[in-house]
Amino acid sequence: MAQFTLPKNSKVKKGDKYNGANGATRKRIFKVYRWDPDDEDNPRLDEYTIDLDKCGPMVLDALIHIKDNIDSTLTFRRSCREGICGSCAMNIDGTNTLACTKDIDDCNGDIKVRPLPHMPVVKDLVPDLNHVYAQYETIEPWMKTDSPAPDRERLQSSEDANLLNGDDGNGPAGCILCFCCSTSCPSYWWNGDRFMGPAVLLQAYRWIADTRDEATGERLDNLEDPFRLYRCHTIMNCTNTCPKGLNPAKAIAEIKKLMVTRR
Ligand code: SF4
Ligand code: SF4
Ligand code: FES
Repeated sequence: MAQFTLPKNSKVKKGDKYNGANGATRKRIFKVYRWDPDDEDNPRLDEYTIDLDKCGPMVLDALIHIKDNIDSTLTFRRSCREGICGSCAMNIDGTNTLACTKDIDDCNGDIKVRPLPHMPVVKDLVPDLNHVYAQYETIEPWMKTDSPAPDRERLQSSEDANLLNGDDGNGPAGCILCFCCSTSCPSYWWNGDRFMGPAVLLQAYRWIADTRDEATGERLDNLEDPFRLYRCHTIMNCTNTCPKGLNPAKAIAEIKKLMVTRR
């Protein structure tokens, strides 16, 4: 049987241990992926023991606590701290999710924190998003119209708005572009150079489903391609992992349906 292994310089080594919980009654160990492009070293998992009584309840609180009090070199992205900006997406306890909405108490044992999988790493927990954003640009994520602009905003019925917002509030307009879904998709891992991946396809569907947009045919033409759309094999990892409860697999299925019915 063929055996696959990581290249030598990608193997994750054991890292340093930091104890920031002397005298604590409630402790937790965080094993955090570290990689610095400025040294020649392999990535490593550093181990931080922290006092839970000195930090907030979420994994992001723990990372901020580590950075502020134990190791200021730890690098990660975050902004809103309430599940809106998508910048703190990472792999926690084996699942892609948002660090700011992941409760420490919901994690098992020592908590492993890694960057989103199958993405180049800029540093530590920060993935390089240039490629996914270049793909996002190709779907032209803005309203395209030919008809003259009305005197006031373009109105929608509540039924039409629901196509975007969803009856349950979990429609495609709720996507925060965290890319937890794309980086959990095996098809995207292997074909991410040409397959758009679930996040970008859900965004494409958001504009296709918008009754105010007048470029539906052009948008479908742009996706009519064996790789861009059809590399989705309905594996459903994307929907299972979305921290906002959205359904990118369904959005992709809707695009495929429209491709067939427009013929
Ligand atoms: S349903 Fe499609 S996009 Fe979602 S994880 Fe599976 S292959 Fe990827
Ligand atoms: S569909 Fe969900 S997981 Fe994917 S980018 Fe949007 S919010 Fe993130
Ligand atoms: S910090 Fe904005 S989503 Fe987590």
